[in-house]
Amino acid sequence: MLTFIYAVLTCVMLAVVAFNEYYQRRMKVSPMPTPQSTRKAMLNGIHQKSPKVIAELGSGWGGIALAAAVRYPQAKIIGFEGSLIPLLFSKMRLLLHPEIKNVTFENKNFFESDMQDVDVVLCYLSNPHMSQLEPKLDHELKCGAEIVSSTFYMPHWRAREKATVGGLYDTDIYIYEKTEAPLPQSLAPPAAAAAAAA
Ligand SMILES: C[S@@+](CC[C@H](N)C(=O)[O-])C[C@H]1O[C@@H](n2cnc3c(N)ncnc32)[C@H](O)[C@@H]1O
Repeated sequence: MLTFIYAVLTCVMLAVVAFNEYYQRRMKVSPMPTPQSTRKAMLNGIHQKSPKVIAELGSGWGGIALAAAVRYPQAKIIGFEGSLIPLLFSKMRLLLHPEIKNVTFENKNFFESDMQDVDVVLCYLSNPHMSQLEPKLDHELKCGAEIVSSTFYMPHWRAREKATVGGLYDTDIYIYEKTEAPLPQSLAPPAAAAAAAA
């Protein structure tokens, strides 16, 4: 009987590892979680007193979204996550906190989701993700919206602030604010460039 249980557990673990590896390749980034000290510093970077909608792009295991939900109980927090295992884990975490009612974790590609209602974007992604996100956020976010990115910066926007969290290794946090000044036309997403040219 014990051997059977070990065999089942081993199969489950192998399946989890294989799934994770598959999604890591698909998402082009590992679901590495942000440590608590960095999470706190990221939330401290938000200037808005009562943001209505906070989106975490690539919410991983749910730590940042849940911390944001506690800090901003009046806000609606949306965690976008395309990788199945971290997504299920964060949904389970949410079930263990029935007092937290303002978070949803969505199995969606954030590049395909409209960000026009979002007041604050939180992310910890990669350089290629930031290059792809920059024109999208420039086009969709309203003025005054804030973006707080751990480790990775946008190639053209100038950060409003940069903070560094010390620890085993230093982590930089870049904070941006959407202003009237648009990106140069050549950097706008194709749909925006076509609309501007029409
Ligand atoms: C480095 S992890 C960060 C996790 C979490 N934000 C944190 O800091 O603890 C990046 C996450 O983004 C997710 N991701 C990457 N691209 C995505 C996309 N286009 N749509 C949804 N999720 C994505 C990955 O699956 C991964 O879990």
